[in-house]
Amino acid sequence: MCGIFGYVNFLVDKNRGEIVDTLIEGLQRLEYRGYDSAGFAVDGKLFNDGDNGEIMSNIIVKCPGKVKVLRQKVADDKIDRSDVFDNHAGIAHTRWATHGQPKEQNCHPHRSDAAKGEFIVVHNGIITNFAALREYLLSKGHQFESETDTECIAKLFKHFYDLNLKAGVSPDFNELTKQVLHELEGSYGLLVKSFHYPGEVCGTRKGSPLLVGVKTDRKLKVDFVDVEFENNASAAVAQQQIGQTLSSLNGPNGATAQDLGFIPVAPGEQNLRTSQSRAFLSEDDLPTPVEFFLSSDPASVVQHTKKVLFLEDDDIAHIYDGELHIHRASTKSAGESTVRPIQTLEMELNEIMKGPFKHFMQKEIFEQPDSTFNTMRGRIDFENNTVTLGGLKAWLPTIRRCRRIIMIACGTSYHSCLATRSIFEELTEIPVSVELASDFLDRRSPVFRDDTCVFVSQSGETADSILALQYCLERGALTVGIVNSVGSSMSRQTHCGVHINAGPEIGVASTKAYTSQYIALVMFALSLSNDSISRAGRHEEIIQGLQKIPDQIKQVLKLEDKIKKLCNDDLNDQKSLLLLGRGYQFATALEGALKIKEISYMHSEGVLAGELKHGVLALVDDKLPIIAFATRDSLFPKTMSAIEQVTARDGRPIVVCNEGDAIISNDKVHTTLEVPQTVDCLQGLLNVIPVQLISYWLAVNRGIDVDFPRNLAKSVTVE
Ligand code: G6P
Repeated sequence: MCGIFGYVNFLVDKNRGEIVDTLIEGLQRLEYRGYDSAGFAVDGKLFNDGDNGEIMSNIIVKCPGKVKVLRQKVADDKIDRSDVFDNHAGIAHTRWATHGQPKEQNCHPHRSDAAKGEFIVVHNGIITNFAALREYLLSKGHQFESETDTECIAKLFKHFYDLNLKAGVSPDFNELTKQVLHELEGSYGLLVKSFHYPGEVCGTRKGSPLLVGVKTDRKLKVDFVDVEFENNASAAVAQQQIGQTLSSLNGPNGATAQDLGFIPVAPGEQNLRTSQSRAFLSEDDLPTPVEFFLSSDPASVVQHTKKVLFLEDDDIAHIYDGELHIHRASTKSAGESTVRPIQTLEMELNEIMKGPFKHFMQKEIFEQPDSTFNTMRGRIDFENNTVTLGGLKAWLPTIRRCRRIIMIACGTSYHSCLATRSIFEELTEIPVSVELASDFLDRRSPVFRDDTCVFVSQSGETADSILALQYCLERGALTVGIVNSVGSSMSRQTHCGVHINAGPEIGVASTKAYTSQYIALVMFALSLSNDSISRAGRHEEIIQGLQKIPDQIKQVLKLEDKIKKLCNDDLNDQKSLLLLGRGYQFATALEGALKIKEISYMHSEGVLAGELKHGVLALVDDKLPIIAFATRDSLFPKTMSAIEQVTARDGRPIVVCNEGDAIISNDKVHTTLEVPQTVDCLQGLLNVIPVQLISYWLAVNRGIDVDFPRNLAKSVTVE
């Protein structure tokens, strides 16, 4: 999905070439999220603006395609690399088309005007009232160059800037940003730069992630940034001002500025930069050399710095003179935090590199012995058979009393909920429903104060899930996040939760996040029921089973050669593939089918084995490839009966079974993929690995760009 990257240096000399390289590298680290175009803006040369003196032109380079195409364009355009800047702001973007096709005019950055490009904007998310804004701005004489919703943001900046000037006010950049935000509906992660504010950038977010990385050789004085709220007095001055000036403010076509509720910045506010950002002062209280990296994703910042600050919705990060200021457009409300912490990222650069693997997906499949171990590390005491989840501990008594648990997620994360629902119900005896976030919202499903809503997400930014979270928060339910990305919207907005600690997942097709989510959910169910003596035996069985999982996954990964051959010899040319499972293995069948669709583009369907006879059986013949999950659990005889139904119609299924298990007679099955046996509720952790590998090798054989499948994005931040 769209990615944002920005770079600001202060008292650190960088030439234009280095700045462009930093921006392009930043975009490259965002590539995994999926995108169709890329672009950036940096300062050009000074030119003479007649009476107004010298101003800085902008260089905007953008094009559809990969970041390497953008890099080539920079080389072809022979952009001068030599000018040195000791203070500069550059912004960049990878786009995933929503409004308007992937073509150059629709790529970001967008500018306020073709003549001078006074304001330049990059934007993630969707402005839902863009049509009305566009109409308004057209009526004011602005000319649009693209079909995007984003362009109206750049135009609004210029529009309000000009209105302020007419009112005799030269607004501060963050005040201007507040005025623009006031008009925007929808979601955004946004960066804006302007030659009116050289070397400065404003970044803001609502429902779309944005963080600021800070790199300096000096020790920061404090590890937080104060939030600067609107004060009541200045709001009152602005109100007074509006009465005096609105009548005289006429837009280019005679319409008054009142159309958009414009309030000029109060005169006392303009360029009032008396506050200092405490963190960025050196011992002698002088500004320090510093670089700032703004991004929608920590993965693009970690190579430069591990010190990051995650913005909250409606924060405006204003970077100027080597300082980072956080502004809010509103006065402080009770209980609102007055600081934003500067945190240290745990992520290592090598975690987001491919290493010896050909693709991130392959690397992530093979990381699962480690990632599953990391999910349990420090949380399970295997000697005493106990589980402690720090982020949930204090909430467990409340959750135990809840009326029901609703698990809400999308895609693979939804499957991890399905895979663990049964063990939740068994251990907690609380009714559990599992919901796809979009459908849950479409139905406006009833939610009550005594419900516990569990949100599961790798990215913690999926728009449908975030909207469902807000819906549940509004209704007073307790919300729990099971999230991989630390600092993500979901992990911050839920009341409590568990980070799955799987490490960064780059491949669009989710693999290691699934197994870690699965384990985190099992640990959650264990924690909820650890007060029950009657379940102590079952607890012990599951906890001992969990301990063996990383090693057992290693065993299953040894099937790769057999699977590679199977894909080469038998599955490559197929058009469709069915996966059969029941009980715990229904989720595995669904997840396997999703993997195969996502990256090999082969039609694939997960079928509940019990439903086979109610329709799907009509598809079965001696040609249709079928994978059946027939590992040992209480439903094994029923699964076998489904396999019999298939073989009786000349179907020859590939059977995932436990080691040494004789599945019918060998001539009736195509082949078996043998996996170690574990506790019934954990078996899905092992059974899913062969289908992850099948999807991977099918995609590789078909020459598909495994990590960047067509039309898909890693993190879907639009509804
Ligand atoms: C996208 C990805 C899927 C992922 C789903 C949910 O569709 O392509 O792989 O499962 O979003 O993402 P989340 O980050 O919320 O787990």
